[in-house]
Amino acid sequence: MRRKLVAGNWKMNGTNADLKEIEALGIAWAAPRVDIVVCPPATLVSRMAFALGGQRSRVGGQDCHAEASGAHTGDISAEMLKESGARYVILGHSERRADHHETDEMVRAKTEMAHKTGLTAIVCLGETDAQREAGETLDIVAAQLAGSLPDGATGANTVVAYEPIWAIGTGKVPSLEQIGEVHEALRTKLRERFGDEADAIRLLYGGSVKPDNAAEIFGGADVDGALVGGASLKSTDFSPIISALE
Ligand code: G3P
Repeated sequence: MRRKLVAGNWKMNGTNADLKEIEALGIAWAAPRVDIVVCPPATLVSRMAFALGGQRSRVGGQDCHAEASGAHTGDISAEMLKESGARYVILGHSERRADHHETDEMVRAKTEMAHKTGLTAIVCLGETDAQREAGETLDIVAAQLAGSLPDGATGANTVVAYEPIWAIGTGKVPSLEQIGEVHEALRTKLRERFGDEADAIRLLYGGSVKPDNAAEIFGGADVDGALVGGASLKSTDFSPIISALE
């Protein structure tokens, strides 16, 4: 049985003052049947991990370099994230694929480094509006999955997040059937490649998840939780999303 997971992606938002949102989550952090992760900007990883102390909740980074160290100005290594208290790292988010021209091959190399370092990679994939309109969704996500995951992916070191690009920050959400169709296709591909281990890999949905649609989305087939952007920034939005999974 896969444990449910809600991950918050703060993107390029958040300063010290916003750590109060984490503290305000209060009781939500104690959700016994749900893993909770918050991925703040790198500047807050350490402080957020410290603020959470020994709680079962986890902190994550939003990217890491594929190499262990070196001359890569502005980048952050998996080891640096881990030392700061991160246990997860988001990789291959569509914003990084677009803004930083990240390819599946690059995402795969980063994921390998995350695994080697002991971080759980939350690997993101998803189609554009045009690709969906053209009927290419399942081919696109299958290719991203094949290209972005290294051979050593397991349920412990990998989470896959399906985030249709047209649903990110737009308020548009796919139907349950559309989410279910993609998750089913992803699960089939995972089984073909990883055998029984595939059933331990969690599949998250991401894209405009809000308190008022979370319960419905979580009711979808093979939805193990969510990767939440905007609604993870305020405890008053994030907390009800966590509760909807309980
Ligand atoms: O990684 C989460 C994300 O891209 C979804 O963002 O703001 O639509 O929940 P949002």
